[in-house]
Order: sequence, then structure tokens, then C-alpha cells
Amino acid sequence: MRRKIIAGNWKMNKTPSETVKLIEELKPLVKNDEVDVVFCVPAVSLIPALEAVKGTNIEIGAENMFYEESGAYTGEIAPNMLTDIGVKYVIIGHSERREYFAETDETVNKKVLKAFEHGITPIICCGESLTQREQGITIDWIRMQIKIAFLNVTAEQAKKAVIAYEPIWAIGTGKVATTEQAEEVCAAIRTCIGELYDAATAEAIRIQYGGSVSAASAPELFTQANIDGGLVGGASLKPDFGKIVNYK
Ligand code: 13P
Repeated sequence: MRRKIIAGNWKMNKTPSETVKLIEELKPLVKNDEVDVVFCVPAVSLIPALEAVKGTNIEIGAENMFYEESGAYTGEIAPNMLTDIGVKYVIIGHSERREYFAETDETVNKKVLKAFEHGITPIICCGESLTQREQGITIDWIRMQIKIAFLNVTAEQAKKAVIAYEPIWAIGTGKVATTEQAEEVCAAIRTCIGELYDAATAEAIRIQYGGSVSAASAPELFTQANIDGGLVGGASLKPDFGKIVNYK
């Protein structure tokens, strides 16, 4: 049985001191030993966040990372900067990074490989636009994103990866995908991983749904056969996140 993983993506919200305050508020609410709980916070808040979650079930993740070891890459964060402070997860290829910061499937692949090289678990994002959904190419598009993201990734690594299926039209819009839509794509992702690797890898990999997840929608979404938790934006900054983590 796969362990659920419920992650908050704080995006560009909360200063370092506000981060500590919010973690203190959420700590008692997100207690749940049966699921993995991750808060992905802005880079400047990683160190205070790691300090604030000590002794709790919460892990801290970054929202981005570069694929080179070090050097002349002004403004970027290297993988060993994350591992040095104890970061365990990193979101890779969020649609907002693809849209505003020119990330491509190829840079996503480079980052995924680099994260694994450093023992960081990537939360690999994929998702279609509303136009693509209307054109009927959702599954083709997602399969292409997955195939490129996993180029040269070994089965052993893939087993530890987390994939977040986030339909772009559902992000921050309040328009959550229907349970059937979310499950259909998450199942297709698992099939694709099975084709790229084998049945054991497909069975092990964890696939989240993201896009307007709320305390109301989480219970049904997270109990689908192929949905292993969520990547939550807006609602992860509120006490509601406690209800999402304790969706059962
Ligand atoms: P919302 O939950 O705010 O729609 O954001 C989803 C998301 O982008 C998580 O990465």
C-alpha cells in the first residue's frame, strides 16, 4: 500500500517570520502519522521553517532548484545548498515556473536527475491547459511530459519519485477537477510509468492531484485508487490544511 503524501506549495507567500508563525499555528492541526506531510516554502524561509518543524511529522521542501552544482548562475539555488540544510523534497516544473520562468520538459528532466543524484525527492509537476483539455489531447500531453521528465531516470529512482498532476485550469481558480477527471489522468500516468519501467515501479510511485484542493474535495480525491495525496496551494496557508491532511 502506498503511503499518502500531502504537500503544501506556499508559492511566493509569507516572509520568513510569517512562515514561523504559520508553522506554529499549523503544527498541531497537521499531526497525522499515517501520511507524509510536506511544506514547500520560498528559499529564504527554508532555514527558519526547518527549525520550526523540528520534532514534528512535517518535512520541508523547496519550490525550485537549479540543475548545476555551482557556478555563475546568479539567483539560483544549487542542490547541495538544499541538502546541506536538511531539505528532503523539491518541487520541479510547476506550471507557474514553466509559464513565467521559461522552464521546459528538458530542464525539468535535468533537475529531476540532479535532485536524485543528491538524494532529494522531486515532486514532478505535469498538467494540461484548458485548451489542451478541450482539444482532447490531455492524456497525450501528460504522457509526453512524463516521458521526458523521466529520461535516464532509473527504476530505483522512479520508485521514490512523486508526480503531481495539476491541470493548469484548476490551479488557483476554485475549479477543482472532478474526481473522475483527476483519477483518469493519475491512472494514465501510472500506466505510462509501467510502460517506461515495470509493474513494480508503477505500483510504488506516488501520484498527487493538485488544483484547488480544499477540505471539502480532499476526502473523495485522496481515496481514489491512483491518487496518493495532493499538492495544495491556497488552502495550505490556512487552518484548512489540517483538515486536508486528516481527510479521513
Ligand atoms: P491551488 O491549490 O491554490 O489551486 O494551487 C495548486 C498548486 O498549484 C499547487 O502546486
